[in-house]
Amino acid sequence: MRSAPPRARRAEIIGWGMCVPTRVVTNDDLAQMLDTSDDWIRSRTGIAQRHIAGEHESSAQLAIAAARAALEVADANPREIDLVIVGTTTPDHVFPSTACQVQAALGATHAGAFDLSAACSGFVYALATAHQAIASGEHDVVLVIGVDCLSRRLNWEDRSTCVLFGDGAGAVLLRATEGPAGILATVLGADGSGGDVLIIPAGGCAMPLTAETLEQNLHTLHMNGQEVYRFATRVLPAATEQVVHKAGLTLHDVDVIIPHQANRRIVETASKRLKVPLERFVINIATYGNTSAGSIPIALCEAIAQGRIAPGSTIVLVGFGAGLTWGAVAIKWGAPSAEAAAPFYRHWWRRLLYRWAALRGGWLRTSRAVTVWLIRRTTRRDTYPKNLG
Ligand code: COA
Repeated sequence: MRSAPPRARRAEIIGWGMCVPTRVVTNDDLAQMLDTSDDWIRSRTGIAQRHIAGEHESSAQLAIAAARAALEVADANPREIDLVIVGTTTPDHVFPSTACQVQAALGATHAGAFDLSAACSGFVYALATAHQAIASGEHDVVLVIGVDCLSRRLNWEDRSTCVLFGDGAGAVLLRATEGPAGILATVLGADGSGGDVLIIPAGGCAMPLTAETLEQNLHTLHMNGQEVYRFATRVLPAATEQVVHKAGLTLHDVDVIIPHQANRRIVETASKRLKVPLERFVINIATYGNTSAGSIPIALCEAIAQGRIAPGSTIVLVGFGAGLTWGAVAIKWGAPSAEAAAPFYRHWWRRLLYRWAALRGGWLRTSRAVTVWLIRRTTRRDTYPKNLG
């Protein structure tokens, strides 16, 4: 008797969450500060408003809130997480990574953590990486977040770019499974020769920030909109077709396509090229604008909340962005919708864990400071390196 083939180990999404800043900026608000109009922005992009981070909000804060929501849906303990990947190009700091800030805030004490830079494709890249980490058997529970606060890197006097973007975060929790549901296939692509069509020139080591670069706004986003448009309308359908083919499916099998939300017209063109009706695409750009790495997971959360995704659904996530980069992920959905939320005492218990994580972080920081102080006091100056003493 022939034995059954070994079942493939894959990653299944078991929790999801999102967070956007509270402040909403409408097209009319922008029209008061720029030579633009609600009509121009809506007709060219589909955007009506966007959420913009306030002075005290940051990528890490949005990421932490989205991650906590995902843990609640999954009813998971942060200590189960063994890897945190954050797709972002607007981290709070060059280092530490946003992923490390999330790891500490959640109390994910058994997790490795790193940021991944693929601009608006960041979430898809992070999800594909997490899938490989799980499929290889190296990791069991991985938290993936897409977050950006591009509002911090926009030239608010450049009407051709600043009207397009918003801030936000989305997160998913993945668990290893050998069942039929989960990530079926992934596709990643890049064309670095197009790096200059969407770029923040200054602020890296090639062009450190100086008074001059600030004066010339080189620390803000620069874009050749028409080139990006051409690129996006080419790769969006191509990556979708590729990932569907790789999963052994056809476009007819796909219930929902969640594209990166950069421009409604890009999605409409992709819909025509793929001959897939627009109703099968999730489009929420009117509310959030382009939230970069946050856009696909935010749209995923909204599609789940609207009942567009249910156990058994086949979905495709497809993104593109600076780099140039693109990628797609095909998923057989398995998780029940969020009504199966955990009982109240579990929320309370999880909150206690977060409080404990904050206390633990504070305690570790204090004990490190005390240790340094004690070393300074007890080490003889002449044997201690000057730059540490
Ligand atoms: N309000 C009013 N007018 C504006 C404007 C604004 N916010 N932004 C640009 N314009 C003007 C331009 O100055 C230009 O005026 P001119 O003809 O007098 O020179 C005119 O509108 C047309 O500009 P153009 O750049 O040709 O518009 P477009 O139809 O190509 O649309 C984008 C511009 C940015 C909406 C479009 O190119 C696009 O969506 N590109 C892709 C961007 C993207 O997806 N980026 C993120 C990738 S992750």
